[in-house]
Amino acid sequence: MSHAKTLGKLANGALKLQKCVLPATNHCRQASTSTNLKDVMEKIIPEKQKEVIEFRKKYGGAKVGEVTVDMMYGGMRGIRGLVTETSVLDPDEGIRFRGYSIPECQEKLPRAPGGEEPLPEGLFWLLLTGKIPTQEQVAAVTKEWNDRAGIPNHVITMLNNFPSKLHPMSQFSAAIAAMNSESKFAKAYAEGVHKSKYWELCYEDSMDLIAKLPTVAAIIYRNLYREGNPPDSIDKKKDWSWNYTSMLGFDDPKFVELMRLYLTIHTDHEGGNVSAHATHLVGSALSDPYLSFAAGMNGLAGPLHGLANQEVLVWTTKLQESLGGEVTDDQLRDFIWNTLKSGQVVPGYGHAVLRKTDPRYMCQREFALKHLPNDPLFKLVAQLYKVVPDILIEQGKAKNPWPNVDAHSGVLLQYYGLTEMNYYTVMFGVSRALGVLASLVWDRALGLPIERPKSFDTPGLKKLVGAS
Ligand SMILES: CC(C)(COP(=O)(O)OP(=O)(O)OC[C@H]1O[C@@H](n2cnc3c(N)ncnc32)[C@H](O)[C@@H]1OP(=O)(O)O)[C@@H](O)C(=O)NCCC(=O)NCCS
Repeated sequence: MSHAKTLGKLANGALKLQKCVLPATNHCRQASTSTNLKDVMEKIIPEKQKEVIEFRKKYGGAKVGEVTVDMMYGGMRGIRGLVTETSVLDPDEGIRFRGYSIPECQEKLPRAPGGEEPLPEGLFWLLLTGKIPTQEQVAAVTKEWNDRAGIPNHVITMLNNFPSKLHPMSQFSAAIAAMNSESKFAKAYAEGVHKSKYWELCYEDSMDLIAKLPTVAAIIYRNLYREGNPPDSIDKKKDWSWNYTSMLGFDDPKFVELMRLYLTIHTDHEGGNVSAHATHLVGSALSDPYLSFAAGMNGLAGPLHGLANQEVLVWTTKLQESLGGEVTDDQLRDFIWNTLKSGQVVPGYGHAVLRKTDPRYMCQREFALKHLPNDPLFKLVAQLYKVVPDILIEQGKAKNPWPNVDAHSGVLLQYYGLTEMNYYTVMFGVSRALGVLASLVWDRALGLPIERPKSFDTPGLKKLVGAS
C-alpha cells in the first residue's frame, strides 16, 4: 500500500476525530482551550494528517536538493532528508521552536509564580501542538507529570547496584531502556493494536517517561555524589524543574529558575542532530519510546554532541590549573593554540549547522550577566568568547568559530554548587526528552515509515559517478 494511502487510512480510521476538522464545532472550540493535552492533540492530528496527504499528493515528486559524493562521506551534512515538525534551526538566527525564538519563548511561555523564566512544561505543549499554552494548560501538564512520576522497583535496584565508575550517562541510558517494562506502546503492539492508535500509545509512553526522568536522574546523582541518600519524593504542588532541582538536593530559588531555563532551551534542535535523529531512527522500527529515547541518549553521550558540556568544564578547569586565576588574553591564546596543535577540538565552539553565536549561549550569558556578573569562572568564559573565535578563524578549519550552548551551561551549574561535571550531560538528556519525544509522537501520528536510506560502497559509488 502506498504511504499516501496508509495516511489516508489512518485519517479515515480516526473518524471520531475527522468530524472535528472543519467547520469548527463547539467540541473543537472546547478542545483548543482544553487543559487536556491529549484531547488537544486528537483535534490537531487529523488536520495535520490531511494537510500532509494533500501536500504529498500534489508535490510528492518535487525535488528538494541534490546529493554529492562529499555529502555522503561528510556525515550527510546539508542533505535535506528529514521532516521534523517541532523546531527548525536557521544557520544565522539559531533555533525556533514551532516558529518562536528563544527570547520570544521567554516572553510568551507561562512561568512559575514569581518566576522570570519559562516552564519547560509550556515548551513541551508548544512543541506538540504548535500553540503557546495558557497558564492552566501548563499547570495541567505539571499535574500529569507529577502523577506519572513513580519508577519501577527493578530500575531503582538496578541503579543502586551500578558501580560508581559507570558513567552517569551509561546509567541513565540503561535505566531508560529498562523502564520499557512499563511501555504501553510495546504491550499494545504485542496485542495487535491498530496503527491508527500508535500515536496515542507513543504519547502515553512519552508522558510517562518524561515524568519519570527527573527521579531517575536524581537517583544517579545522589548515588554517585551524595553517598547514596535517596532523593525526596515529588512535591505534587511544584513544577517539573522545581522537583528535579529539589531531588538533586538544591533549594536556591535562583537555581530553580536557571533549571527552568536550562530544561527549556536544551529540549530540541531540529531533527538531524545525533540525539534527535537516533531517537527518530530507532522509533521508525516501532521500537517503543523508551528504547528509542535510550538510543538518543547513547548519542547524546558522545563528546562531539551532548558530552561537550562536560568537556568544556574539564578543559576550562585544566586551563585554570595550568594558568592560575587571572589570565591575560595572550596566555589564553597560547593555551588554545596548544589545544589545537595537539589535535583536539576547542569544546563548546563550532556547530554543524549554526554559523553565528548560538542563541542558547546568549540567553545563558544574559542570565549570568544578571545573576553572577562577578563570578571568576563566568569572567573566564566571557574572556574565551572574546579570544577563541579569532583563533579558530585564523586556523581556518572550523566552519563556525562561534560558541554553542555547551560553552556556557557548565559555568552556571558550577556557580550554584552543582560542580560534578561528569553529570552535566544527564541534565541535558532530561531536557532533550521533551523535544525528541514530541517529535516521536508526530512521527507516529503522520505514519512515517521505517527509515532506510540507500548506502553504497566506494567501488559502487565510483561506478555511479563514472569514476571507474
Ligand atoms: C560541533 C562539531 C562536531 C561540528 O562538526 P562539523 O560540522 O564537522 O564542523 P566543521 O565542518 O566546522 O569541521 C571542519 C573542521 O574544523 C574542525 N573544528 C570544528 N570545530 C572545531 C573546534 N571547536 N575546535 C577545533 N576544531 C574544530 C573539525 O574538527 C574539522 O576538522 P577536520 O577537517 O580536521 O576533521 C565541531 O564544531 C566540534 O567538534 N566542536 C567541538 C565540540 C562541541 O562543542 N560539540 C557540541 C556541539 S553543540
